Order: sequence, then structure tokens, then C-alpha cells
Amino acid sequence: MDGNGRWAKKHGRPRIFGHKAGADRIDEIVRVCPDIGVKYLSLYAFSTENWNRPGKEVNFLVKLFAEKIKNKTAGMKKEGVRILFLGERTAFPKTLQNLMAHCESETASCRKVNVMLCLNYGSRDEIVRATRKISEDVLAGKLKPSQITEDLFSRYLDTRELPPPDLIIRTSGELRLSNFLLFQAAYAELHFTQTLWPDFSVPEFTSALAAFKERKRRFGEI
Ligand code: IPE
Ligand code: MG
Repeated sequence: MDGNGRWAKKHGRPRIFGHKAGADRIDEIVRVCPDIGVKYLSLYAFSTENWNRPGKEVNFLVKLFAEKIKNKTAGMKKEGVRILFLGERTAFPKTLQNLMAHCESETASCRKVNVMLCLNYGSRDEIVRATRKISEDVLAGKLKPSQITEDLFSRYLDTRELPPPDLIIRTSGELRLSNFLLFQAAYAELHFTQTLWPDFSVPEFTSALAAFKERKRRFGEI
């Protein structure tokens, strides 16, 4: 979900105004998922590198996450939206961690759509954490090195039992993955658009999915 800052600048407003507008975009995109056959939606909201932004902006974002999670949990549950958080959450204030845990448990039995919010998420960090956990399990005698397969490794990632992404959409015209689901995205289709995230609409979402359907996916075969 890139381009909040540039969207705010375009409107002559401070960056945080763009983050608010960006967060408001999410509802509509989530709501349309069950109708258009999207079962899993991952939203990259805050990367492990985003801590390097000015403290004021980081604080605003952390507060925004807490506020949104607090205000949206009941509504998401009612709409059948299961929320999961990907990323290293102990870096956040305890209050936010508690809100995240509460939101996950409240929506755990929802099955209409799975929404993964990536907060303090970075692929490299995720892979290192998985490796550390695997090493601990090997040292504890729970796991033999010969048992480490691609499938087992993926179960140590934050995404665990989730399927790998079929399509990755990046807004705002940047042409890179920026540490997003690098292991999981090995065969993902990529879609880049100039649209800034706060302007990303349901029609644009559905047309990206329609274009995706036309692609020939070979997964290394012929
Ligand atoms: C994406 O918008 C939101 C977050 C990373 C939190 P940006 O804040 O990266 O917006 P630009 O790239 O400065 O326009
Ligand atoms: Mg950006």
C-alpha cells in the first residue's frame, strides 16, 4: 500500500493525512473480496525498515494501527473477516500487542476472507526468525536437519499454513518488492500501478484481478 505520503503532498497536506486516507481505503477493498473470489488478502502496512522514518510519523502510525484495530475488530467479525498479523510484534507497545491478540482471537473462526495485516514485517527478518526457531528445535532434539524441507521451512514463517500469494499488487509506481513475502512470492504474479494507495479503487482492484486471470502461469514447467 504505497504512496500515502505523495498523495498527501499532492493535496497540500501533511504526510499523516495521507496515512489516514490510506487506512480508510482498506475497508472497501476488504469488503469486496468475498464477492470477487479473493480468499486471502495481505496488506503491507509497516515494514521493518519503516522504523527509520521520523519519530513523529512512526508514532502516528503506531497510534493509527491501535485505533483502527480497536474500532474495526467487532465489525470485521460480523462480516466474517478473519484477521491475522504478520511480522515481529514484540517491537510494538504492549497495548497494541494486546489489541492484535484480541483481534486475532475474536475473528479466529471467521471464514469469508482472511486478511493478513503486515506490521513490522520484513521478509529477511521473518526468514532469520524462522531459521533461529528451526535451530532451536534441532538443538532440542525435536527436529533432524534432514527433515528441513521447503514445506517444513515455510511452516516456520509467519505465514505458516497460508497459501503463497498468487498476485502482488504494488501501488504508486515503484517497481520493487521491498522485503515483502520474498520466500512466499517465488511464483507470484506481479502487478504495478501508478495509482497512489489512497486512490486505489475497487474497479482498479477488480481489473487487476481480471488481468491476472489472463496470465499463463507455468511454475517452471512448459
Ligand atoms: C505507504 O505510503 C504507507 C507506509 C509505508 C506506512 P508511504 O508513506 O510510503 O508514501 P510515500 O511513498 O511517501 O508516497
Ligand atoms: Mg513509500
